[in-house]
Amino acid sequence: MRYLVTGCAGFIGSHLVDALLQRDAEVIGIDSMVPFYDLNLKRQNLARALAHPRFHFIEGDLTKMPLKPLLDDVDVVLHVAGQPGVRDSWGEQFEAYTRNNVLATERLLHAAVGSGIKRFVFSGSSSIYGDAPEMPWRESTCPQPRSPYAITKLAAEHLCRSYHLDFGVPTIVVRYFTVYGPRQRPDMAFHRFLKSALLDEPIPLFGSGQQTRDFTYISDIVAGTLAAAEAPDHAVGQVFNLGGGSRVVLLDLLEMLSEVVGKPVTIQRLGKQAGDVRHTWADISRSQAVLGYEPQVGLREGLAREFAWIRDVYDR
Ligand SMILES: NC(=O)c1ccc[n+]([C@@H]2O[C@H](COP(=O)([O-])OP(=O)(O)OC[C@H]3O[C@@H](n4cnc5c(N)ncnc54)[C@H](O)[C@@H]3O)[C@@H](O)[C@H]2O)c1
Repeated sequence: MRYLVTGCAGFIGSHLVDALLQRDAEVIGIDSMVPFYDLNLKRQNLARALAHPRFHFIEGDLTKMPLKPLLDDVDVVLHVAGQPGVRDSWGEQFEAYTRNNVLATERLLHAAVGSGIKRFVFSGSSSIYGDAPEMPWRESTCPQPRSPYAITKLAAEHLCRSYHLDFGVPTIVVRYFTVYGPRQRPDMAFHRFLKSALLDEPIPLFGSGQQTRDFTYISDIVAGTLAAAEAPDHAVGQVFNLGGGSRVVLLDLLEMLSEVVGKPVTIQRLGKQAGDVRHTWADISRSQAVLGYEPQVGLREGLAREFAWIRDVYDR
């Protein structure tokens, strides 16, 4: 099988590439190396894959480069590239969100028309549910996005749906719930928390700490995304929640984190951030039934693995 993985130098994309290379797939990876965070981290993410004979890296921007020729011999597209982050998506930055989340997705879908690809899996986001009151969230829950980021991710989902219905592109959307683990982006909570704990600095906590989050370990996200790529035909055109089954109150999480890092932690309270939702909680029954998805890694174990990586990165 030949896979095209967009956003291959990022947190999630690079793990997908590594997993595919272990499964004997041919992988083309595209990334424009957006300097949203330290590019050295992205280069490290890609280091193992770059040394692999079945990996072909193209540094390019999906909003500009010709895409049709790339899809000629590809069986599956994993469209992971995007501009992530809720808090930065307001105001001036919105242009980058519309470009990298909406325009890039539309161009790739347009190129996929008539290409013969078997699956087009789009990395969606739980943020599209916003503060929808009926919990846990099912895929059928009415989206109520609260941030410009979430709105662009929802727009991209609708593009997938339209290209499926009108042009037969075999799209499947997987909605990720807060992903964590080694290579996590530096703007994300666990990365910031663990780094602060390592450096004996106060942990910056936005809001009251009573928010809950459904955290999903990276290897579970990889398994769920690859299961979507291999899903039966009746899954095409559908949306699937990928949550971790580890929903936790942030303040309780900080207690667990203190045990994992082996020392007490102090908290620096910061105000609530625009666009942050109070709770997230996935109903994963559809993913379990159709994709055979079962999250395997619990929060304590996942935190310990991310901490081992954080220590490695910042000690270096
Ligand atoms: N990390 C999470 O918890 C989470 C949750 C929900 C959804 N997602 C989605 O998953 C995807 C990956 O997230 P991540 O955390 O790995 O982010 P990331 O920033 O680490 O990776 C995204 C990669 O996409 C690349 N990219 C962006 N625009 C591009 C373009 N126009 N052309 C080519 N490459 C481009 C970036 O350079 C980056 O390396 C994103 O689409 C994000 O919206 C992530």
